[in-house]
Amino acid sequence: MSFPRGFIWGVSTSAYQIEGAAAVDGRAPSIWDVFCRQPGRIANGDTGDVACDHYHRYREDVALMNRLGVQAYRFSVSWSRVLPSGTEAPNEAGLAFYDRLVDAVLQAGIEPWLCLYHWDLPQALQERGGWTNRDVAGWFADYAQLIAARLGDRVKRFATFNEPCVFTLFGYAFGLHPPASHDPAALHAAIHHINLAHGAAVDALRARRPAAEIGGVHTIQPCRPSSPAPQDQAAAETIDLFWNHAFPDPQMLGVYPERLRTLVEPYFRDGDLERIRRKVDWLGVNHYSPIYAKGVWGAALGFGFGESPPEMPRTPIGWPIDPGAFRDTLLMANERYELPIYVTENGLGALEKPDDVGRIPDAVRIDYLGKYVEAMREAVDRGADVRGYFAWSLLDNFEWQAGYAQRFGLVYVDYATQRRIPKASADWYAGFIRSERSKVP
Ligand code: FCB
Repeated sequence: MSFPRGFIWGVSTSAYQIEGAAAVDGRAPSIWDVFCRQPGRIANGDTGDVACDHYHRYREDVALMNRLGVQAYRFSVSWSRVLPSGTEAPNEAGLAFYDRLVDAVLQAGIEPWLCLYHWDLPQALQERGGWTNRDVAGWFADYAQLIAARLGDRVKRFATFNEPCVFTLFGYAFGLHPPASHDPAALHAAIHHINLAHGAAVDALRARRPAAEIGGVHTIQPCRPSSPAPQDQAAAETIDLFWNHAFPDPQMLGVYPERLRTLVEPYFRDGDLERIRRKVDWLGVNHYSPIYAKGVWGAALGFGFGESPPEMPRTPIGWPIDPGAFRDTLLMANERYELPIYVTENGLGALEKPDDVGRIPDAVRIDYLGKYVEAMREAVDRGADVRGYFAWSLLDNFEWQAGYAQRFGLVYVDYATQRRIPKASADWYAGFIRSERSKVP
């Protein structure tokens, strides 16, 4: 079957991963700028200082989107570029960049999808407690209102947070992302305050732009034990709770699962669930791989990531490949949350370099994407209300603690020269979009 009429094909990126221009035009540091400077945090000591220099090269990048034939572009705003201290005085030069970007995207006939938060909290707010301070909900709502006021005349689709479970677990339990703590109490406080910030931002966006379509972006992946051992089974249940339920359930169903309710209790005030569960218009699902959990004695939450079964194929950076898990995730999310779904990220990471003639013949990415879009088609055939798909990512970019070594782009970036080289998968995706669109009358 073909995808439904109006199905949107897009690409995703995020601010810190591509923009660079870290200290240009009044941008202040985010927690990632500070974290990258701490020795040993990021592979090869990489930083997002320059990244893909998208801040200066966005026109070229919009032209690449055009070449792909995408209908939508999901990007995020750097909070500390538009509000250097996190609150109060806006930075006009930073806002003007997003004006230029949105205008260029629209001029190319592409719809901008704006995500408010893709992990780059202003450092100034971290110094006031960051996500562990309940006031953050108000700071985030004020930021949302600023963006809605400035860009909401042209941007119609907004997301609040990207993958809140990842930046909380990695930031407060595993020590892999800023603020790099191993503190369950901080994790629980952050979870609840981020949920409150989501609700407050939905209200702020809605108040300023009643016609906007607002959603949250969640990574949803089946969590499986890495062995039948009881500690691995228990680990899978715990990770499922934090990964798949800590945010989507309160935000869209108005409940915390029982175990989590107890953990967030110290930070909970009367009326909080109503503050969190605000009407949203769509659910963003990011999906890459199933998770294999293992019990880890002494870890902050008693679990970690284990190995996938040896017979399961893996991507070049070792992530399990299981398109059936994607199909099942979409069917589950459709049934559980009863909202239109947009797949806001899916893609494959590899360690690539151009061949002798300067091409990147990334057959493994083409194979992965082909299988995953077919799995999505199966979910749609079985009734899942999936309305769009955004490949991660337009460009190779700063892949968090892995730095620039891991490449997820449809377009290769030569960081020494900033030259962009579309990979074979870029041509594949362009052809795929053309062919799918031609099937819909
Ligand atoms: C997701 C992130 C995105 C990118 C991909 C590979 O978890 O949202 O920024 O790092 O993984």
